[in-house]
Amino acid sequence: MSQENNSVKPWGGRFSEATDAFVERFTASVDFDKRLYHHDINGSIAHATMLATVGVLSDDEKTTIIDGLEAIRKDIEQGRFEWSISLEDVHMNIEAELTKRIGITGKKLHTGRSRNDQVATDIRLYLRDEIDSIAKELNRLQEGLLGLAEQHAATIMPGFTHLQTAQPVTFGHHLLAWNEMLVRDYSRLMDCRERLNQSPLGAAALAGTTYPIDREQTASLLGFDHPTANSLDSVSDRDFAIEFCAFAACLMTHLSRASEELVLWTSAQFNFIYLPDRFCTGSSIMPQKKNPDVPELVRGKTGRVNGHLISLLTLMKSQPLAYNKDNQEDKEPLFDTIDTVKDCLRAFADMVPAIKPNKAAMYEAAKRGFSTATDLADYLVRKGIAFRDSHEIVGKSVAYGLEKNKDLSEMSLEELQQFSLVIEQDVFEVLTLEGSVAARNHLGGTAPEQVLNAVQKGKDKITQR
Ligand code: ARG
Repeated sequence: MSQENNSVKPWGGRFSEATDAFVERFTASVDFDKRLYHHDINGSIAHATMLATVGVLSDDEKTTIIDGLEAIRKDIEQGRFEWSISLEDVHMNIEAELTKRIGITGKKLHTGRSRNDQVATDIRLYLRDEIDSIAKELNRLQEGLLGLAEQHAATIMPGFTHLQTAQPVTFGHHLLAWNEMLVRDYSRLMDCRERLNQSPLGAAALAGTTYPIDREQTASLLGFDHPTANSLDSVSDRDFAIEFCAFAACLMTHLSRASEELVLWTSAQFNFIYLPDRFCTGSSIMPQKKNPDVPELVRGKTGRVNGHLISLLTLMKSQPLAYNKDNQEDKEPLFDTIDTVKDCLRAFADMVPAIKPNKAAMYEAAKRGFSTATDLADYLVRKGIAFRDSHEIVGKSVAYGLEKNKDLSEMSLEELQQFSLVIEQDVFEVLTLEGSVAARNHLGGTAPEQVLNAVQKGKDKITQR
């Protein structure tokens, strides 16, 4: 191995032998961090602009650097750029190419900067853009949920606890419960964006730089709210990536719960909903099968996203200040989290408006399982019976219904009066499923009127974003 082999490396000066070929591959990140190229170039342009403002670069040098970087950006976008493992990462690949193209001026770009503050800046910029596109997909999914909830504000289905029929609810109300989870996820995402939006540029390797840099200027050129406060923290902090993955883990956990319900509901046993064929696939051996692959996969992909959160927490655990090469390991979990979340949101946002409930099956299921038993108990209380006694009376009526295979609403007045003489003809208003849901007419309740109000509030929240 000749020393010349290392002369390509920007840091080759103090080395007397070339990097071991395996070590070169082992330490390189370009295969995965090249996706930061666009933001790396934006960061470099802001840095060069600032260096010219403070007189470290001439205006001509600045212009030459910016033109060179823009030409490189174009070549990368058109697939004409050759990435090289021996140049380790996206930053050195671009810088080396710039110097190849514009000569000595290219070598001045890195004045007052280090890859440590450069990479911290790049990831923040990259993640900020991804957060904005994820926020849009979240909005689209929420709009779909709210639209479907509005259509089905009065569609009755069984509500469950312990996956046993509990009380009737409206399908719209159920969908709004999913939406509430997403409302919280959205606000977590925005919190993350706010804390992320600070510029580490100028921290240099770890201690700052001796050049008269203007950190406010680079921060504002890059759309950051302000520069970070401490140079050591700036190059070592990856909280923003952890917070994003925590948001993602919550979101995916929520999508997995909705997925699980969709999988259950499409089964022949429930038969509550119809998912269009375009969201399903068949079986290679069983011709009758139509499998809900999309929700199943979303449910499954939750595992890797939750795993990435743990990867990042463990990556940062016990790391001494300031930058350590360990941090290069932040990218793959973060990138895969972004990709997975975007795909899953897209799948869900496309699928939700296409869900068609089987109203008759939902209604039948709500009727089975004595879902209005609580309504009968409340009715007896209104007639002056203590709740514990009314619970007992209704329990006996249910036992009778089980024996006779009759729902409470299907019994005659005489049959019901065997259990309590306070029961009168008006009992049938509360024993119907419609009466049961309409009676829960308060903020957060399942009554169709409340569902429609909540849909409107949900829509308003989205337009205010
Ligand atoms: N590829 C590196 C990373 O992702 C860039 C920073 C490298 N800095 C260094 N001093 N080796 O973390």
